[in-house]
Amino acid sequence: MKILLIGNGGREHCLAWRLLNSGTDATIYSPSTNAGIQKLSNFVKINEKDFQEIARFCIEQKIDFVVVGPEEPLANGIGDVLRARGIPMFGPSKLAARIEASKSFAKDFMNRYNIPTARYKSFSFDELAKANEYIDSIGTPIVVKADGLAAGKGVVVCESKEEAKSVVQKMFSGEFAEAGKKVVIEEYLEGEEASILAITDGERYVLLPSSQDHKRSLDGDKGKNTGGMGAISPTPLIDNKVLKQIEDEIIRPAIQGMANEGYPFIGCLYAGLMIKDGKAKVVEFNCRFGDPETQAVLPLIQGDFASLLYSASVGKLNSNFCDFSPNNFSCCVILASRGYPDKYEKGFEISGVEDAEKLGCLVFHSGTILVNDKLLSNGGRVLGVVAMGNTLKQAIEKSYLGTSLIQFENKYHRNDIGYKGLKYIESH
Ligand code: AMP
Ligand code: GLY
Repeated sequence: MKILLIGNGGREHCLAWRLLNSGTDATIYSPSTNAGIQKLSNFVKINEKDFQEIARFCIEQKIDFVVVGPEEPLANGIGDVLRARGIPMFGPSKLAARIEASKSFAKDFMNRYNIPTARYKSFSFDELAKANEYIDSIGTPIVVKADGLAAGKGVVVCESKEEAKSVVQKMFSGEFAEAGKKVVIEEYLEGEEASILAITDGERYVLLPSSQDHKRSLDGDKGKNTGGMGAISPTPLIDNKVLKQIEDEIIRPAIQGMANEGYPFIGCLYAGLMIKDGKAKVVEFNCRFGDPETQAVLPLIQGDFASLLYSASVGKLNSNFCDFSPNNFSCCVILASRGYPDKYEKGFEISGVEDAEKLGCLVFHSGTILVNDKLLSNGGRVLGVVAMGNTLKQAIEKSYLGTSLIQFENKYHRNDIGYKGLKYIESH
């Protein structure tokens, strides 16, 4: 099977690794300069932003299907361009990708299908007075969200009404360009965050093991929001009862709702959840695999992953291609460049990856590049070190052991990935 993989980070390295370990004869093509992805794929020189060029490449090279990692090309309609040319594609259409690309769309959609989520109202930039009135009418904290894609930076949790008003004002004055021309103002949800990924052909779906990301930059969930500093899978927060509620009240209605409205969602639907007292509410939907969640989740599934994604892409999901290793846990620790998510330096030589691999860890590259045969750091997030274990504790300990074997200047990681999960297990 010939697969074109779009995307450049740890999620895509992990997808490439899993697609190649399918048992099916798979060849990956990729335009990425990420050293981990390059090692597993045939490099292709195409402009990732030019969907017509991608389509031409797929037709010329007889690519069987395309897997898209990041949200941006999906929100910009890569799915529509490729499908119009008859190329199967794992990833939603532009209309279905609005579930991530427009927060007001996602909230209204959830409302229509009674999907549990925080109470909210949306306002466009000519409604500043109304937005302020709404802020005055609700309690604090208040969450203000830019409507469009803002690379994870468009959400501000405000402790006071004054702060909320000033954030809205800034968004309306163009801080996030078009993405902030509309805002969602919503109630603050208490609880712990977790996520569920569903592979779907628009109608049927398979749920992958649950996961928990650690989004803040510092230990103890302090510091700035990042793309994610590490993840565990499965998360003990989601037991069978919570999972059933998530499936019945969130995943199934979302997939059916999008199909009913004429834009079935084909790809990976990511439900970001807040869980409190054994009940989940949706914080956000994403239209793609999560990163780093994917790096923790995919090592736990067995079976023919390439055929699983292909079957979803052609609208005939076959869940027999997916098996779980039920007694395993995994932990992914992200090695970042000091300073991330703000300013950081890159270009430092990395050593010790093979040592971590010898220990049995999987090392996925988030931001690396090979220059003159030297592996260099090339991003804010640099590597993901993943280990599995029969218990969560074993998985955490092994991934930290792997982490300690890898060196590069300005290496930074959190020291408490998975500890929330351990604490939860101890207290239940
Ligand atoms: P989002 O981009 O919507 O996932 O928001 C980014 C982060 O902001 C989430 O991962 C949460 O930590 C936080 N967040 C978003 N919405 C809420 C909410 N309604 N209540 C509490 N925290 C939230
Ligand atoms: N790790 C969060 C995300 O992928 O959106």
